[in-house]
Amino acid sequence: MTGAETSGIYEVAARTYSQSHARWLRFAGGEAQCAFEGAVKVLMRPGARVLDVACGIGTVARRLLDNSDLGIDLTLLDSAQNMLDHCTDIPAVRVNGCMKALPFEDNSFDILTCAWGLETQRNPCPALAEFVRVTRPGGQICLVFCADRPAQSWIASLLRHRVSRSGRGTFLDHLNMKRLAQDAGAVRVQLLHCSGPAAAMILHV
Ligand SMILES: C[S@@+](CC[C@H](N)C(=O)[O-])C[C@H]1O[C@@H](n2cnc3c(N)ncnc32)[C@H](O)[C@@H]1O
Repeated sequence: MTGAETSGIYEVAARTYSQSHARWLRFAGGEAQCAFEGAVKVLMRPGARVLDVACGIGTVARRLLDNSDLGIDLTLLDSAQNMLDHCTDIPAVRVNGCMKALPFEDNSFDILTCAWGLETQRNPCPALAEFVRVTRPGGQICLVFCADRPAQSWIASLLRHRVSRSGRGTFLDHLNMKRLAQDAGAVRVQLLHCSGPAAAMILHV
């Protein structure tokens, strides 16, 4: 199933995505990305079942697998087939699907990651509910997303403006996101320390 608000944009953007995302990480979202990746690496156990939602061209998956001999059981999901087609080198199951209706049984994963994906949704609640449903009790959901926090430089402000204008995503109210995650069923929500127009969060299920 597809049907994402922004999936059309990403079908087209797959070819140029890598460059523009690298710029975003370098000047605006890098701290949040580091906090997110650091947390995921600490949480991963040998053989962990990991689902990367809105995997894009596989940036997060490649970095998580880099230097890792944990033998994780990785599934990648994205609504844009063009994006998934850039992930064929990654040892993972690839699924074309929508985060609002994940095609998995309840409690299927130990860890769910979603980097720069939730802000593509007009309403993140259906996706959050799905994230909690497919993560087993005791598992974690690791998120990083564009958030309504101050940009630290003029270039970060400019990039923020560009992302908003392009329709690729919105800047989510990070404190409200914490409440929404609790409403979706997360037992505990941790906001990770970082600066810039982004937030990283761990939801304990
Ligand atoms: C900004 S990219 C993030 C990609 C990747 N996680 C990264 O860190 O580079 C957003 C991704 O969300 C995907 N997406 C948008 N709406 C979606 C939906 N409803 N379900 C699944 N993926 C979706 C897009 O196709 C795109 O690949």
